[in-house]
Amino acid sequence: MSTSLPRHVGIIMDGNGRWAQVRGQPRIEGHRVGAESVRDITRASRQLGLEALTLYAFSSQNWSRPADEVKALMQLLRDYLLDERAEIMDNQIRLHAIGDIERLPAFVKEPLDALCRDSAHHTGMTLTLALSYGGRESLARAARVLAARVAAGELAPDAIDVDVLGQALPTGVLPPLDLLIRTSGEQRISNFLLWESAYAELVFVDVLWPDFRRNELYRCLESYAARERRFGLTSAQLANPDSDVEPTSG
Ligand code: IPE
Ligand code: IPE
Ligand code: MG
Repeated sequence: MSTSLPRHVGIIMDGNGRWAQVRGQPRIEGHRVGAESVRDITRASRQLGLEALTLYAFSSQNWSRPADEVKALMQLLRDYLLDERAEIMDNQIRLHAIGDIERLPAFVKEPLDALCRDSAHHTGMTLTLALSYGGRESLARAARVLAARVAAGELAPDAIDVDVLGQALPTGVLPPLDLLIRTSGEQRISNFLLWESAYAELVFVDVLWPDFRRNELYRCLESYAARERRFGLTSAQLANPDSDVEPTSG
């Protein structure tokens, strides 16, 4: 499987609330057990040798949830960062965050910044947490940065191409997104990596996030490995990249 292992996997970790609801428990209990899935999937991804794992943990739109749920999620996030610090440091994982991090409360932002800084030199897998993240917001921010460079005379408008825009995104430092997984049965992107998913393979699984553990991940990777990624080309071109078929003359 290793030859067709994705370099970069993104996951929309959805279904925590429903997981708790079917058990007659408060939604936050689903988030708590969901954090266990984060640990297992991160560990398994590191062991498999993925270069990058990006987890959608909290969207720009999730701020509009009931205040109690937002508060509990922030508390869980802080607990996660403190509890996982040793594991991240010991396993050469580089922690990276994307999103409007300034909006996070200080009790989350501080341990997050510290762990990103302290793990910045690590050469193992890059674990990116998408926090207060929106794909549209991220594109708008990149547009603002590029516009400012144009206004300052540092960048010509004509120089803005796919590479320049891609590099202006917070994911510009990561390998291209190969596989995008969403749990919980919903089949939508919900403002995750909009630009980056242009040629990602999409896998939607019916399992709720708290039940998504490494065996589920392996199944997604098998599905990925069985696909043909054509990037706009034909199957024949992919099979034989050197031979451009001559048009048949009449
Ligand atoms: C995903 O689970 C976690 C976050 C969005 C923070 P949900 O909380 O969306 O769970 P469901 O979709 O309501 O079941
Ligand atoms: C997407 O899930 C956000 C995260 C998993 C963090 P949501 O539950 O917020 O998405 P919708 O509302 O179902 O589209
Ligand atoms: Mg949801």
